[in-house]
Amino acid sequence: MHPAIKDLTLREKAELVSGGSFWTSRGVERLGIRSAVLTDGPHGVRRQRAEADHLGLNDSEPATSFPTAAASGSSWDPQLLEEMGAALGVEARALDVDILLGPGVNIKRSPLCGRNFEYFSEDPLLSGALGAAWVRGLQARGVGASVKHFAANNQETDRMRVSAEVDERTLREIYLPAFERVVREARPATVMCSYNRINGVYASQNHWLLTEVLRDEWQYDGYVVSDWGAVTDPVAALAAGLDLEMPSTGGTSPALIEAAVQEGRLDLATLDQAVTRILEVHDRFSPGERHAPDLDAHHALARRIAVESSVLLTNTSGILPLDPTGGGDIAVIGAFAEQPRYQGAGSSHIIPTRLDNAVEAIGAATSRTISVAQGFRLDGEQDQALLDEAVRVAEAASVVVLFLGLPDDAESEGFDREHLELPDVQLRLADAVIDANPSTIVVLSNGAVVSLERLRGRAAAILEMWLAGQAAGSAAADMLFGDVEPGGRLAETIPLALAHNPAHVNWPGSDGVVRYGEGTAVGYRWYDTTERDVAFPFGFGLGYTTFAYSDLRVDVADPTAAHAAVEVTVENVGERPGAEVVQMYVGEERPAVLRAPRELKGFEKIRLEPGERRTVRFELDERAFAYWGATGWTVTPGRFTIAVGRNSRDLVAEQTIRLDVAAPVVPLHRDATVGEWLSHPVGSSVARAFFAQLGPAAAALEDPESIRMVESIPLTTMIGFTVDAKEQPSSPAEVVERMLAEVQSASGRTT
Ligand code: BGC
Repeated sequence: MHPAIKDLTLREKAELVSGGSFWTSRGVERLGIRSAVLTDGPHGVRRQRAEADHLGLNDSEPATSFPTAAASGSSWDPQLLEEMGAALGVEARALDVDILLGPGVNIKRSPLCGRNFEYFSEDPLLSGALGAAWVRGLQARGVGASVKHFAANNQETDRMRVSAEVDERTLREIYLPAFERVVREARPATVMCSYNRINGVYASQNHWLLTEVLRDEWQYDGYVVSDWGAVTDPVAALAAGLDLEMPSTGGTSPALIEAAVQEGRLDLATLDQAVTRILEVHDRFSPGERHAPDLDAHHALARRIAVESSVLLTNTSGILPLDPTGGGDIAVIGAFAEQPRYQGAGSSHIIPTRLDNAVEAIGAATSRTISVAQGFRLDGEQDQALLDEAVRVAEAASVVVLFLGLPDDAESEGFDREHLELPDVQLRLADAVIDANPSTIVVLSNGAVVSLERLRGRAAAILEMWLAGQAAGSAAADMLFGDVEPGGRLAETIPLALAHNPAHVNWPGSDGVVRYGEGTAVGYRWYDTTERDVAFPFGFGLGYTTFAYSDLRVDVADPTAAHAAVEVTVENVGERPGAEVVQMYVGEERPAVLRAPRELKGFEKIRLEPGERRTVRFELDERAFAYWGATGWTVTPGRFTIAVGRNSRDLVAEQTIRLDVAAPVVPLHRDATVGEWLSHPVGSSVARAFFAQLGPAAAALEDPESIRMVESIPLTTMIGFTVDAKEQPSSPAEVVERMLAEVQSASGRTT
């Protein structure tokens, strides 16, 4: 318990677990307990000193606008995320912020989610690794993180009430691991519970989630804060494991909590524990030294991250990089060239310290003549004069850089998109400009996947920059002229059509319920399982150089342990320096349950000079081979394929290993089947001994063909079929109960 507990009154304790204002926790002046400032997050510090809101409406202090998670997720670079976290930490501390609300590690279940720009990936390993790095960087600067939104918050439609109906295996394998990794590896100050229900129970009141999984299994020692307004019953929330309700409810929640303790409906120990967790975290992150942030350096970092996060999707005939000194005029077309779209709308919306625009940056980077045309209106209205002007400018230039993307009102926190298309006004412009000048390079700004079917194969190059922060404009120029290469790889699949998305028939649900019917087959796991073509696969991205892979080695020192060491050598065989994201996928050959053919289990981004080579090493532990089964994480003996390569559909080398781990034991119970009894180490002989008394029926158990027919029949039913009631005075259920008791006592003897 925190030492202050003994001096606090019940009322004060009830107040401490409830916000003090919109952005602060409460303090207790007489005991020197300070109130802490919690604010957004996650791509810049949103410190509001006057009117507070969490919808991005009112102003906040200027702060560096870093690339959004949709971008930084594509960097595949934990080191870079750690640097971003550290820079955010310095700015947060300078603005008196104790807890910065981020990172968002929810999985991109559908490209339509309005908040995908705040999330890293469709893959849990990548999301967790990047989220943990961000938290490490931030917290090393003395500012606490709040990993959010825990859990299964994968859509904005009805987000404050909807019940995400998800089976446990899917939660464990897809929607929880990123949180688990952040919690276990980076010890975040707080975890923010989401608004939605999970299998009928609000996340804020979900004992299984907040206590059994988070505390008991993952050993989490920070505090759980509610999303803003996510608490519907403050007493039930505390009992389930929530610690701090935000924002302030005035005196309402404290009064309810105080009364619940007085009336014996809430344990005082539960309240004491919540207060302790909050105070301990605020002690741990008590304001240390404040440094004036080096905003120039942070801007430069935002620019570097934007470059490392941009994904070059196509580059026909190597049109990129452009020559900065020769080759004719360059037309820069599209409203986003001068009015960049660089961040998303909602609670993460901030005021940047400065804003680069691409027209100026391109002009500064080249001696070639630049001509500019707006091309389209951001409000989506058709404007023939703008289109005609753009076509004239395109025709007269030797190359066109066309800036397209989603406008602010197309995607946001608070609602989901309904389709994947770029605005019609932009597609019409793109058609006309490309007709006028096929040497058109499209640069995209959008927070989530857009359909590229109208551009793919028509544009000479497509550079996806996502929402790349305040330095996006200069980062674009850096890449266009080859000062640096785009370093990103897709953290989400770009499908050929929205209808191919695994969530499509269960999106966004109705009547307050959304079923996660696709189970674990999310993102590339689905496209690979269903063998669908995609526009661009997970992990895909081009650069300005090429890499060769060789010498894949997979070592299994002890096949009875689920562990392997993997090595592969990568060489830059091109003429420019560049980065490669070496990706390692694992697949089980004949899994006992439906599993994707391959899942990402390791990655490393390496930078190599021309001719340079490096050996990359990965360790695979038990979890890398496991699925979530009836008894928890389960590895079955068998063959596994380890593949390394450039993306999920371009695996350059693979090797198969055999693991002879002990077969998992499925506990027997009343409804266990014949097959389950026969594969149980003790139950098998008990069942065989029983059937041996019956003569001919026993023989069927030794015949592989008969076994296949009967193995899914519950043993109780099977006994009913084979035993004559006159000869067997006990009911089949009683017989099975006796056999279960026998198994239990025999298991006791053997352990
Ligand atoms: C969002 C959170 C945010 C909070 C505070 C909520 O509406 O879901 O992500 O941190 O507001 O602004």
